[in-house]
Amino acid sequence: MSLIIAPSMLSADFANLSDDIRMVNESQADWFHLDVMDGLFVPNISYGFPVIKAIASLAEKPLDAHLMIVDPDRYIDRFAEVGVSWLSVHFEACTHLHRTIQHIKSSGMKAGVAINPHTPVSSLEEIVPFCDYILVMSVNPGFGGQSFIPTTVKKVAKLSGMIERLNPDCIIEVDGGINEANIASLAAAGAKAFVAGNSVFSADDPAAMIAKLRNQYL
Ligand code: DX5
Ligand code: ZN
Repeated sequence: MSLIIAPSMLSADFANLSDDIRMVNESQADWFHLDVMDGLFVPNISYGFPVIKAIASLAEKPLDAHLMIVDPDRYIDRFAEVGVSWLSVHFEACTHLHRTIQHIKSSGMKAGVAINPHTPVSSLEEIVPFCDYILVMSVNPGFGGQSFIPTTVKKVAKLSGMIERLNPDCIIEVDGGINEANIASLAAAGAKAFVAGNSVFSADDPAAMIAKLRNQYL
């Protein structure tokens, strides 16, 4: 089983974005990962619709947007309009999470719930049956290039057991500090999709690194 690799465009070269988009198109990558930060939910601001539209116009693979913003309901329809197909919102940012997930699905996108490192898997018990995927943060959200938190492997294994019981079609995506040293243990614990920013874009050959990550657990 090859893994799903989603290069995080946060680590791309924004002065030459089309080159990096082309690299991802021509590589074995499966999705484009788009990190949207509002400076409130996380202590950083990334990019918004003008940049996402530009990426969408060149991308030949599905767009996986990760919203690190408060009150994401305000923008769900616009993410669907610009061509996003996988949309995750943070558990910690949504008061009416079930309604938000239904809204994402009714807009024609796959719906995901992202959880911060401190949020226990048990919090997801009532929402997992409604999700297409769970995005497990393996760093504190806000920045690329941080170190992987090793306890994430056990967390993924625990989540995998819950998913098996409640919604076997739900995918586990892991985001933050993913590299060739930790991806296989996460895959063995039940994760299927992996975001990779720094490990891909700082590699001498980013496309070769994508292939290496993708085939690490065959
Ligand atoms: C962090 C973002 C990640 C980040 C991953 O808040 O959600 O998607 O870009 O980058 P790396 O792989 O460098 O940790
Ligand atoms: Zn992300």
